[in-house]
Amino acid sequence: MTFSVEAVRTAFPALREGAAHFDAPGGSLVPEVVAAAVSDTLSSAICQRGSNTMAERRTDAIVLSARQAVADLLGADPGGVVFGRSFTQLTFDFSRTIAKSWRAGDEIVVSRLDHDSNIRPWLIAADRAGVTVRWIEFDPATSEITVEDVEAQLTERTRLVAITAASNLIGTRPPIRQIAAAVHDRGALLYVDGVHNTPHAFVDVAAMGADFYGCSPYKFCGPHCGVLVASPALLETLAPDKLLPSVNTVPERFELGTPAFELYAGTTAAVDFLAGVGVPGSPTASRRDRLRGSFAAMAEHEDALRVRIEEELAQHPRVTVHSRARVRTPTLLFTVDGLEPREVAARLGALDINVPAGNFYALEASRHLGLGDAGGVRIGLAPYSSGVDVERLLEALRDIV
Ligand SMILES: Cc1ncc(COP(=O)(O)O)c(C=O)c1O
Repeated sequence: MTFSVEAVRTAFPALREGAAHFDAPGGSLVPEVVAAAVSDTLSSAICQRGSNTMAERRTDAIVLSARQAVADLLGADPGGVVFGRSFTQLTFDFSRTIAKSWRAGDEIVVSRLDHDSNIRPWLIAADRAGVTVRWIEFDPATSEITVEDVEAQLTERTRLVAITAASNLIGTRPPIRQIAAAVHDRGALLYVDGVHNTPHAFVDVAAMGADFYGCSPYKFCGPHCGVLVASPALLETLAPDKLLPSVNTVPERFELGTPAFELYAGTTAAVDFLAGVGVPGSPTASRRDRLRGSFAAMAEHEDALRVRIEEELAQHPRVTVHSRARVRTPTLLFTVDGLEPREVAARLGALDINVPAGNFYALEASRHLGLGDAGGVRIGLAPYSSGVDVERLLEALRDIV
């Protein structure tokens, strides 16, 4: 398998600015083809979906292609792909809709590891419905969640478990397959935040057992929007608040107002881009198969860089790395004794090395790790991260610590 980071980098116009980017978990750079797809869509004749005019047919094709692209990316049914503004918006919407069937005394379960967008919407919905909330804790020493940690919170009254497939703060990837089995044993639903997982793993939602799986294309080289997938049959059972004249079909009933068609097109382009990253592959292979190969190549590349960074950080007595789970993404959170995280980020930023600091909205996790609201410094890797950038970062860090 050939993966050429130089070839990948030429696709990203933003890299010409010269900064070293370790900020992909906050939002990845976008290749030219994705920007072009957004721009071409906006400058072509589009209007509403339909079959009468070329503009209507084009608009329809853009939507259907994007649903198929996301389905290929996640191993989902295109008829169950819902687009939205962001994962946060989709989770607020789905929490309100799903909560309509909850009764006082029911229970839901959230995790301490999650980004706040997969915690707060559920807490608010639970509060309104008089539903009890139980928490899955993670062990700060290992930064892991086990299936037993989840099972301990499940009861006969559990209606839903919301958990991340990967922590955007420390990279931990909980064992979602086993968790799904335990959750389904209790007859509850599993709502998975795949925002940080999707850029780093070949996802198979069906095999994973997630009833709902959400992600954000802007984390995997796409435009700023969110996507949620579920089986069309499950979506049919849900009744979101909607306008009277808007269609009641699935998945359209969950997409309020006129969609951002240009972002649908950009998402398709991002999936196509990822399917072509560094994999010679047969041109006749399906997009899903090419994605499988690409994700393996990207993971190998990112893991090699992660190991190099970890080896170096281990040399510095003042540095503590908080990303410790055995199974995790190439995302490293660290703190430096005697230096505020934002100070470290500012000094790196002054050298055009983009390494952000904070709790990254994984506020509960940051506090649980003893890092308060200040969090830590986060190094994130992407397919366009290079060994040259890594050495630049490590040299700068040597000076700082
Ligand atoms: C793990 C995780 N979940 C959820 C979100 C929120 O995603 P969005 O910005 O699409 O609402 C983020 C964004 O950083 C994230 O990293």
